[in-house]
Amino acid sequence: MNKLDLLHSKKDQAVLGGGAKRLASQHAKGKLTARERLQILLDEDSFEEIGMLVSHRCTDFGMEKEQYLGDGVVTGYGTIHGRLVYVFSQDFTVFGGSLSETHAEKICKIMDLAMENGAPVIGLNDSGGARIQEGVVSLGGYADIFYRNTRASGVIPQLSAIMGPCAGGAVYSPAITDFIFMVEQTSYMFVTGPNVVKTVTHEEVSSESLGGAHTHATKSGVTHFASANEVECIESLKQLLTYIPQNCEETAPVYPYTSNGNELRMKLNTMIPENAQIPYDMKEVIEEIVDEGSFFEVHKDYAENIVVGFAFLGGRSIGIVANQPAALAGVLDNNSSKKGARFVRFCDAFNVPLLVLVDVPGFLPGTDQEWNGIISNGAKLLYAFSEATVPKVTVITRKAYGGAYDVMNSKHIGADLNYAFPNAEIAVMGAKGAVEIIFKKEIESADNPQQKLDEKVSEYTEKFANPYSAAARGFIDEVVEPSLIRKKLQKGFKMLENKVCALPKKKHGNIPL
Ligand code: HXC
Repeated sequence: MNKLDLLHSKKDQAVLGGGAKRLASQHAKGKLTARERLQILLDEDSFEEIGMLVSHRCTDFGMEKEQYLGDGVVTGYGTIHGRLVYVFSQDFTVFGGSLSETHAEKICKIMDLAMENGAPVIGLNDSGGARIQEGVVSLGGYADIFYRNTRASGVIPQLSAIMGPCAGGAVYSPAITDFIFMVEQTSYMFVTGPNVVKTVTHEEVSSESLGGAHTHATKSGVTHFASANEVECIESLKQLLTYIPQNCEETAPVYPYTSNGNELRMKLNTMIPENAQIPYDMKEVIEEIVDEGSFFEVHKDYAENIVVGFAFLGGRSIGIVANQPAALAGVLDNNSSKKGARFVRFCDAFNVPLLVLVDVPGFLPGTDQEWNGIISNGAKLLYAFSEATVPKVTVITRKAYGGAYDVMNSKHIGADLNYAFPNAEIAVMGAKGAVEIIFKKEIESADNPQQKLDEKVSEYTEKFANPYSAAARGFIDEVVEPSLIRKKLQKGFKMLENKVCALPKKKHGNIPL
């Protein structure tokens, strides 16, 4: 065989992964192959493979006779929407995509390149875990990846798509990355699978129910996105990239934007019911404020009482954190606090300015909340907002009660601009609760307690259930007619685009984890 023929035959062999039969079996399971996924992910002809001819070094269990070029993972770099990314795509057709010493080395190599060159790393995971034949060497390989994931955290964006099994300690690499994407029915993540669960706890549970996309998108919050199929999953990953910079040294993207001259949003003047007891959908408010169709929600089905996601405002990428009155009245609880805090920290790490929309009745009471740590979880959100140095703008759309007022990016914890709509109520608590405490004796001893209560409620409402006490103290910079808010926010974020704000010198803070 001449040298070129040899080269071509080796490359052809590598492209075949575990062979035609196993590739067909992958398709039969409704899954794409490692290379097909990369084709959808990357711009046409942009992929440059690294390590195509790598093969494993294991000689136990007759493994020396079973060699597949590439060793179960396709690695390299390419572009998405013209921007550089580093990728690895595990090939389930080679030893079930399991992680060997060399497989791990390939992933580490592209992670190192990504760090040195300041571009995102995207991992497409489809793996049976540690290469069982290699034993501890494989465990070392995992740890090498975990270590790099951690070092890279906050330096370059790291995105993980789970497109098959991801079990055991293997889950901890995606878990450290910034965003996880899963596919319904064909992907799952768990630390111990159904068989171990049955042995230890006697629970009968399927893989899908224990750790499928739906479970992690709704119950655990481990995944940020759950898609119906792999193509949708990859497309949403690509969309997310349009909102974020390449690394922590870059600013978030600002795309050319030409106004059609109509920046007023008259609908906003009537969208929010004045009665604080009546719910409304905060996502509709968000859609009205941001550039049309640009809201990209993160963690859509988890802790729905807080809404987080990216959007463009006059072409500028922003991160949005908003209470959702349509779910649990927008109350802050354990899960919503954690969800909000993690998103705020991502935005701050990668210079994405924050818009915070507030309509919050307070923290959720109860033993479940207290015993599960609402004190430390609520503190996470408070800490994340306080620590964030990106431009931070708050709009109180209606209620802002109690400690939750402070937590939701108030002026006191470093917000740059604080706006309120005219029907905003900024108070220690709702009027009824307040008067029942402070006028308890007076109401009880009145000839007509109900009438007294009503009188006191309207007195309290008049005095405190408005934005003007807060505005008088400068806690609110301006009370804004809702229809004008989009325009005002565009100007505000533009004014803040060169903000410089350094944290006190420290090794790192100690967020209440
Ligand atoms: C080597 C593996 C493998 C592994 C699968 N294969 N997992 N080879 N090491 N971990 C091989 C199979 O032998 C088979 O080879 C091919 O991959 C496809 O596997 P199947 O079992 O036929 O596929 P399927 O029925 O779809 O089941 C997939 C699976 C199952 C659920 C992932 O293979 C499985 O349970 N594998 C073992 C998972 C596991 O226990 N991993 C170790 C976890 S501990 P052929 O030649 O037939 O194609 C761990 C620790 C990490 O990962 C710790 C980090 C700190």
